[in-house]
Amino acid sequence: MKIGILTGGGDCPGLNSVIRAVVRKAIDNGNEMIGIKYGWKGLLEEITMPLTLRSVSGILPKGGTMLGTSRTNPYKKEGGSDLAKINFKKLGLDALVAIGGEDTLGVASKLWKEGLNIVGVPKTIDNDLAATDFTFGFDTAVNIVMGCIDRLHTTAESHNRVMVVEVMGRHAGWIAAHAGIAGGADYILVPELPINIDEVCASLKVRHERGKDFSIVVVAEGAQFKGEDLAIQEESKDEFGHVRLGGIGHRVGKIIEKRTGFETRVTVLGHIQRGGSPSAFDRVLGTRYGVKAYDLIEKGKFGRMASLKGNQIIDVSLEEATADVKTLDLGLYEIAKIFFH
Ligand code: F6P
Repeated sequence: MKIGILTGGGDCPGLNSVIRAVVRKAIDNGNEMIGIKYGWKGLLEEITMPLTLRSVSGILPKGGTMLGTSRTNPYKKEGGSDLAKINFKKLGLDALVAIGGEDTLGVASKLWKEGLNIVGVPKTIDNDLAATDFTFGFDTAVNIVMGCIDRLHTTAESHNRVMVVEVMGRHAGWIAAHAGIAGGADYILVPELPINIDEVCASLKVRHERGKDFSIVVVAEGAQFKGEDLAIQEESKDEFGHVRLGGIGHRVGKIIEKRTGFETRVTVLGHIQRGGSPSAFDRVLGTRYGVKAYDLIEKGKFGRMASLKGNQIIDVSLEEATADVKTLDLGLYEIAKIFFH
């Protein structure tokens, strides 16, 4: 078979481990591999590269994606999905592995329904993809944020300050909750629950009254005050209809300082959370997903996505995986709340 592979949407650590696993397994089994560069853009514009055992050697510890990525949506371009189908044939592809989040895999699901042999692998630091317990990239991001919270602790403590940390998480508070719990945050604000600033300030005051003169507040970029709009950095939408979020940390920090009188600083972690080398967990998960993606192709199980359930790698339909966003487990938030004072 001739098998293509692409990475779409925001990059994240672990993409290269998936690419390496698919290429190694496919070539060992006598297949040919090509890389489609820059996500769906590469399929529309026929930007490809040959993938050999040699080209994937040494990529395991590297962050980002050796194939490049983009947020191109074929369904937002005139004749885009037809062109994708034409080029799939023109490139002589028997199958395609699409590695991405809800947007990239949403396109994969539609193209599969229109006849293309596609399988998916779930990626995103946000961990908000349905039908899998974890996406790869999430664990690395959580570890980066936890490390930053640890660093903010020492400076917060020295200056008796409140440190507000804004983290990624457009629709879901997974990064905020996991990193917040791991880093010992004193309050965590997530998109799933409206911000109750009275409660935040009251709990910081209680904490200070019991002798702690610094605090760490973690805010997911998609968190919102009741009745207020999302904090937005850039109004214009990408091809999947997303605006660029940013700014909620500063809104929250300003109010905390005004209401409590505690000196407050705000740190926005931004793309630092997506950079650098993947954690061991993400390298292993990415490798397992890559092997599963090849197995699905070999069995002709198209329209499916590799998924982690418990400690088993199973397959689920792309349709199910992209039907809904997986929001934060509120039971986990209840555990975080025990430490909000
Ligand atoms: O979807 C993953 C994500 O990292 C979000 O958490 C964030 O809002 C977005 O991507 C940022 O996208 P970009 O790289 O286009 O700025």
